[in-house]
Amino acid sequence: MKRIGILTSGGDAPGMNAAVRAVVRVAIFNGLKVSGIRRGYQGLIEGDIFDMDVSSVGDIIHRGGTILQSARCLEFKTEEGLQKGLDMLKLFNIDGLVVCGGDGSYNGAFKLWQNGFPTIGIPGTIDNDLGYTDYTIGFDTAINTVVNAIGNLRDTSSSHGRANIVEVMGRHCGDIALHAGLAGGAETIIIPEVDFDIDEVCRKLLQGKNRGKLHNIILVAEGVGKPYDIADAIKDKIDMDTRVSIIGHLQRGGIPTAFDRIIASRFGNRAVELLMEGKGGRAVGIDGNDIIDVSLEDAVKPNDRLNKKMYELAQMLSI
Ligand code: ADP
Ligand code: F6P
Repeated sequence: MKRIGILTSGGDAPGMNAAVRAVVRVAIFNGLKVSGIRRGYQGLIEGDIFDMDVSSVGDIIHRGGTILQSARCLEFKTEEGLQKGLDMLKLFNIDGLVVCGGDGSYNGAFKLWQNGFPTIGIPGTIDNDLGYTDYTIGFDTAINTVVNAIGNLRDTSSSHGRANIVEVMGRHCGDIALHAGLAGGAETIIIPEVDFDIDEVCRKLLQGKNRGKLHNIILVAEGVGKPYDIADAIKDKIDMDTRVSIIGHLQRGGIPTAFDRIIASRFGNRAVELLMEGKGGRAVGIDGNDIIDVSLEDAVKPNDRLNKKMYELAQMLSI
């Protein structure tokens, strides 16, 4: 292992830069050379590859986004695209690759590995939807962004006595809604993993109103869909005034929290260690406070990662 490549792929996530920084610096510290690949698999296919040194990653640990940029590259899903990627890795004398991204990016990384190329995955997605790791890079920053938004919405919700329906990201996963809802004291959390009953939501709103509660935050994970339908149903059933806020890509940016920077740095370190140990086809993660690695194949398996206890706690605390 003389030269490793690093790319960031899929939806960007605050903290990806800290992972890139760690990969580059740990590799150089250990005498390896590093190639940066811009725009994920798209840049790999196009040979958008450059040498990185210690200074390339200076002054980035605190920045959101990714200095390597990211992309969703359909061509890489094809046999021809994959072959182009493998050819470029050979052309640029890259011996091992680190891919920071979500489950889609991991699928691409797994295919490279199946074709004999040592590849390691670092979980970088705000969604926290990878079952093998307790946390993915960017999730903590995203939930803090949502908690701040809930704080602002709670003020105006109280002033007007409205029900504020707030849609958060997470693709098919309810973790952002659940964690931010618990931390922000949301009255109701609606996630794709649990069926919801609009009558129950309305009953709870009325109970709160009747005991003098002024604010009502209903957090809906995007995987559930239809926040406007929920708002309309509340208006129809109990004639409560509603407003919908879709937080959207605000959740994808911003200064990464210390937690995200720390796990990103630890993941980056372990990813380089694995390559130096001659391993490939692995994904790093965190279990409790331990850095772990599992096969990329296992990492992308469908999972039931809902923390039921946490969900029940959030319900209990919002009565
Ligand atoms: P994320 O990594 O955040 O889940 P995507 O699902 O968009 O984001 O995946 C990122 C990129 O990974 C895709 O644009 C594509 O280039 C690559 N990718 C996704 N799925 C596959 C697959 N089955 N085979 C090869 N590459 C894939
Ligand atoms: O995977 C991260 C994520 O932000 C999801 O939560 C969301 O569904 C999706 O990416 C949005 O993708 P895009 O940035 O391409 O609109």
